[in-house]
Amino acid sequence: MRRFGVIGHPVQHSLSPRIHQAFARQVGIALTYEKVNCDDDAFEATARRYFEAGGAGLNVTLPFKLRAAAWVNEPVEDAAATGAVNTIARDGERLIGYNTDGVGLIVDLERVGVDLAGSRVLMLGAGGAALGVLPALLRAGVAGVTVANRTLSRAQALADRLWEARVDACGMEDINGVFDVVINATSSGVRGERVAIAERVVHDTVCYDMMYGPGAVFHQWARSLGCESHDGLGMLVGQAAAAFAIWWGERPDPEPVLESLRETTQ
Ligand code: ATR
Repeated sequence: MRRFGVIGHPVQHSLSPRIHQAFARQVGIALTYEKVNCDDDAFEATARRYFEAGGAGLNVTLPFKLRAAAWVNEPVEDAAATGAVNTIARDGERLIGYNTDGVGLIVDLERVGVDLAGSRVLMLGAGGAALGVLPALLRAGVAGVTVANRTLSRAQALADRLWEARVDACGMEDINGVFDVVINATSSGVRGERVAIAERVVHDTVCYDMMYGPGAVFHQWARSLGCESHDGLGMLVGQAAAAFAIWWGERPDPEPVLESLRETTQ
């Protein structure tokens, strides 16, 4: 049986084993999918051992996505553009790194009815989570992305890195303009904090929080204001579906898996 897993620290709460097993049942295959926990300094050695022991593929989660991009033989597509890898697949003796986070976000935005073509997007946050999805958003034909960050210099550095006229940067207090979609890519919710933006920014927009569960503080805040808002559980399932397709050549349907997760994780 082909072996897969998710490597991260911590990883014990990961929903990925459940999601991949559900996809496997859907398409009628059998796989093993385990949680591979490893200490901060042990990522490379643990991943190497995993593949030497016959592992077929790994998902990579925090905090190892950047190190995974440096470690694989070749990062490709969005992984090459962002320097972050969330999926590793074997190609013969070579390990190829992919990033399916952006595709996962786009698929989920489509699912909830957001038409990205020509839309104006406000991205809150300028760390790895924001960078990881920006190439996919640009490919989806957005009219523009404003990256707003607490630390302005980081937002500017992100916009410079992308070298793209449609991307501009501002500080969190200087958000100006009208947006169709506001995406929270900050990690503020992890500590139960809400990203401090003015209420007027989210009026008449669709809000999307890349966090889910108790960390989806932005999503809960937007909802409390009466805005349309979505949490990131659908993105999680979407990125897993894209990883599954890389490994198995078959794209599962994320919808029933998302529904079942909603029933048990809310
Ligand atoms: P990740 O890989 O999750 O993006 P990261 O690279 O550490 O993690 O980036 C975290 C992002 O969340 C940054 O944009 C950070 O803002 P700063 O660059 O100013 O630090 C943002 N962030 C974290 N906590 C925040 C808070 N309480 N309010 C606003 N932004 C916050």
